[in-house]
Amino acid sequence: MTSENLSPEQNVYMASCLCRYRRRILCCCSPCILLLPVYLYVTIALFFAIKYSTPKVSVLPLRFVASGLKHSSDLAPHPKKSFWRTELESGALWNFIQHVTDRQNNPILRPGLANSAHVSSNLATGKGTGCSPDSAIISKIPDYSTLPTQMKNFVATMHCRDYPLIIAPKDVCNHGPLAKIQAPMLLMAIKTQTANFENREAIRQTWGRTGMVKGQGRQGLVRRVFLLGKTEDLRTEKELQLEANKYADIIQWDFMDTFFNLTLKDVLFWDWFSRLCPHAHFIFKGDDDVFVRMPAVLDYLLKEKEKADERHLKESTETNEMEGFVVGDIINNAMPIRSNEAKYYIPESFYKGLYPSYPGGGGVVYSGSLAHRLLEVSQWVHLFPIDDVYLGMCLKRLGVYPINHPAFLTFDFPKEESKDPCANHTILLVHKRSPAEMFRLWIETSTPSSRCRNASLRS
Ligand SMILES: *[C@@H]1O[C@H](CO)[C@@H](O)[C@H](O)[C@H]1NC(C)=O
Ligand SMILES: *[C@@H]1O[C@H](CO)[C@@H](O)[C@H](O)[C@H]1NC(C)=O
Ligand SMILES: *[C@@H]1O[C@H](CO)[C@@H](O)[C@H](O)[C@H]1NC(C)=O
Repeated sequence: MTSENLSPEQNVYMASCLCRYRRRILCCCSPCILLLPVYLYVTIALFFAIKYSTPKVSVLPLRFVASGLKHSSDLAPHPKKSFWRTELESGALWNFIQHVTDRQNNPILRPGLANSAHVSSNLATGKGTGCSPDSAIISKIPDYSTLPTQMKNFVATMHCRDYPLIIAPKDVCNHGPLAKIQAPMLLMAIKTQTANFENREAIRQTWGRTGMVKGQGRQGLVRRVFLLGKTEDLRTEKELQLEANKYADIIQWDFMDTFFNLTLKDVLFWDWFSRLCPHAHFIFKGDDDVFVRMPAVLDYLLKEKEKADERHLKESTETNEMEGFVVGDIINNAMPIRSNEAKYYIPESFYKGLYPSYPGGGGVVYSGSLAHRLLEVSQWVHLFPIDDVYLGMCLKRLGVYPINHPAFLTFDFPKEESKDPCANHTILLVHKRSPAEMFRLWIETSTPSSRCRNASLRS
């Protein structure tokens, strides 16, 4: 029976009947819907209350009793609980030792101590003598024996960071009275390993050329260094020595060049930079399997610098905003990888929490003045096995927000876009590219077809 066959009265009756039911349904359900957020809130609140109410180890005494006070009635009322969190992230090693360091160096609690007891001086350092594994720290991580070898090695030597130089480059930057005037606009610091001869050669001949590099109209002085640790293969090490003599662009330090030792390249490079090329305006730090459109990078940087200098003059602010300039492919809200076969595996017993925002390690550019600040702050931050995350941790401490630029493609093109005939002309950096591809890209991007000549950067 359809409603067309009904008399008007029946139709009205059915309508009001339906209405009644609808009203009743609404009556029953709307409170449920309104209360849903409240239920959700209560559930989440309960979850957190339970999660964080597990027994706490209170490290600080609850009250401070000044000497000379005899009667407890003389004491001012004090809060029962400290207002900072004392649970020390329930036993993750990095969180724990960082917490201890932060407390030791808290400038409010200990005004005189700040600047004296940083992470590499209150722990043994590896200066000159090599660095012996720390057995005390091993006992602080309960599942040490079950960890993958690279994690074990990292934990045992994470207190060492002053490794001496084996090979030092010559005259990368000018010294003497003209050091400042003739400072490079951009210093390239490229992470590489001894065996990657081909990559270094391709970089030298393509995007990593040094000297004056011309963008569209502007130009800037570019310098280059490669960052290396050592390997146990004496034959290739010897070849590296020859290569270093030839090009004078190799920095090698006396530590094993492993994946989890990459962070050492950051902190040791900052140290080298602050002593031997302190006036460079910008630093590019990246992998040896990327392609960089260097003239476009220079254009972009010079524009940013000009804008910042103008604002600095106009607003006569004390600091130039370039002191906090860092740009790349920014990764936000990343979580540690917990599957123990992965290259990036970080166990819960080592680190808990999200990672701070960080620029992908394939390639990042920051200002020279920021590099000086990074060197400083890194002395208060314990080493972390993943180098780009460590950079994020240091930036966070400085209160610096990295700038995301879509033309930094540390994960290559999205599939559709790679078909665009001008795609290669819209990037500043792309990962990952073989030496042969670097040559092809170099030729393609330095002699663009008229169609692609004006292609604008990915945005
Ligand atoms: C880092 O290098 C040091 C010094 O060569 C070495 O003892 C340590 O095992 C290395 N760490 C990793 C994670 O490979
Ligand atoms: C862009 O460069 C890659 C090499 O990395 C090349 O295979 C590709 O064909 C280029 N794209 C265009 C549209 O030329
Ligand atoms: C590219 O840009 C320049 C100036 O911005 C303009 O003169 C020229 O006509 C443009 N070329 C093409 C192919 O669009």
